[in-house]
Amino acid sequence: MANVTFENKTVIVTGAGNGLGKSYALEFGKRGANVVVNDLGGAVDGSGSGNTAADEVVDEIKNNGGNAVANYDSVSSKEGGESIVNSAIESFGAVHAVVNNAGILRDKSFAKLSEEEFNAVIDVHLKGTFFVCQPAFTHMKDNGYGRFVNVASPSGLFGNFGQANYAAAKMGIVGLTNIIAIEGEKYNIKANVLAPNATTRMTEDIFGEDFGKLFKVEQVTPLVVYLASEACDTTHQIFSAGAGRYARIGINTHKGYVNPEATPEDISDNIETISTIEDGIYPMNNADEFGIIQQALQGD
Ligand code: NAI
Repeated sequence: MANVTFENKTVIVTGAGNGLGKSYALEFGKRGANVVVNDLGGAVDGSGSGNTAADEVVDEIKNNGGNAVANYDSVSSKEGGESIVNSAIESFGAVHAVVNNAGILRDKSFAKLSEEEFNAVIDVHLKGTFFVCQPAFTHMKDNGYGRFVNVASPSGLFGNFGQANYAAAKMGIVGLTNIIAIEGEKYNIKANVLAPNATTRMTEDIFGEDFGKLFKVEQVTPLVVYLASEACDTTHQIFSAGAGRYARIGINTHKGYVNPEATPEDISDNIETISTIEDGIYPMNNADEFGIIQQALQGD
């Protein structure tokens, strides 16, 4: 059985003061990692700030015999992202893995969604992931080693009423992570996306009490810890974790309907064939899809 340990490894977990991030940080600490516990200590909608959330998690890691430092910066600025990565380098000399987990919600039906509500969510999730990933990636490239676990959501991948801002940000994270995985490949940098389901202050009202009891944060943590570890050889994938069920989520295409002279009427007549996802094919980059199109044109 593979041993998933973090001796001499430094892991940054953003938004680690509560919920899922806290559970990840505690487990990294137990497994020997130096942990940077980032959290700006705000409410679910991103308002407010404070040091207590991050400090308490650092204390708990230390009480368990681990190493950790707190960082209170917001992920949502370039300076914040740089400061989080610098905390790791200054305190522990390196960054080996980053879990981009910090998040907020500003739910509103699409017709009523304000620009401010849209921007606030994009700033924390999508831009925040960019701001932390970029300085970490540069450092990892030089070291020839790195792991990213970037947190998306089923709401982004599949859709959920009232979450247009959040879904757009979370799908943006999928795109960002695809490129980090492709560009990081030759430097032994692996980048994967997690779509979790767990009862936290963010989801307790949505799940309700009985259903919520099935979805424990500790049941998401094993996958995150694996993806952030040296044992992880997987990259460029999306994983679902919730209630003890773990599964890859794929973005697929298929052989399709081929007609180089197609008219709108041909499309209408063949929309069922075009829309099927039977015999799905999973391109791992843009060039793969060109290959699939060429094969379809050749009738393969
Ligand atoms: P949570 O609200 O318990 O934890 C999020 C943490 O992020 C909080 O401690 C908060 O202070 C911190 N944070 C917010 N803005 C920040 C910023 N600008 N800089 C630094 N820290 C910041 O929520 P939960 O449920 O633990 O969510 C963690 C991640 O998982 C989020 O990205 C969320 O979108 C995602 N997620 C959670 C799901 C769930 O079922 N709980 C479902 C799908 C995705």
